[in-house]
Amino acid sequence: MNEMDSSDTPGTTVTLPTTHSSWSRRDFIKGVIASGVSVSGMSYFGAGCTTPLPAQTGGVERLLSLTVNGQVRRVDVLPGETLAMTLRYKLGLTGTKLGCDRAECGACTVLIDDVNHYSCSTLTHRVRDREITTVEGLESPDGTLHPVQQAFIDELGPQCGFCTPGQVMSAVALLRANPNPTRQEAREAMSGNLCRCGAYDHYLNGVMRAASEA
Ligand code: FES
Ligand code: FES
Repeated sequence: MNEMDSSDTPGTTVTLPTTHSSWSRRDFIKGVIASGVSVSGMSYFGAGCTTPLPAQTGGVERLLSLTVNGQVRRVDVLPGETLAMTLRYKLGLTGTKLGCDRAECGACTVLIDDVNHYSCSTLTHRVRDREITTVEGLESPDGTLHPVQQAFIDELGPQCGFCTPGQVMSAVALLRANPNPTRQEAREAMSGNLCRCGAYDHYLNGVMRAASEA
């Protein structure tokens, strides 16, 4: 195994096998499902976001304690910073994707107190007392995937994989609120997550499989 810089986020380290030819499509899908690693040519984070600024701006306390994936993380947050920005570029949780960055595609979906939200349209300062869960927080400590993640693999849900973390988070939120949805209920619950590859039926099959196996 060797380590390479991800094209997704400059400076993010992703472990890849030395011999890429040994990768199967199923291996790729497992990587996408577990940590949200996928191909992205876009970098959304301008230099201004990384420039150190005073610890307090306009009377707003910037040093926050956020509960993310069961851990309390201390992080310096700008007053108008979105949760997606904080997760990806301050906390290194790049499984949460940024697509439209304006509440349309669902790529940035995370759970806030078990409810799915678009993190690109959520101010980090508004969730300082909430439980935040990202795709990185779903698998068990021993590496066992969440049933939704496993079901998406079994149903070959991801194509490019960019939308997959958001799809996973919406499916998890649905099954926590409604463990036995009808296919139509699942379709409606997943309707806020767009997939440019058009793998909707695969994801829907995954949701129904996860529900039936729970
Ligand atoms: S990036 Fe948040 S909805 Fe598209
Ligand atoms: S798998 Fe490519 S956008 Fe959904």
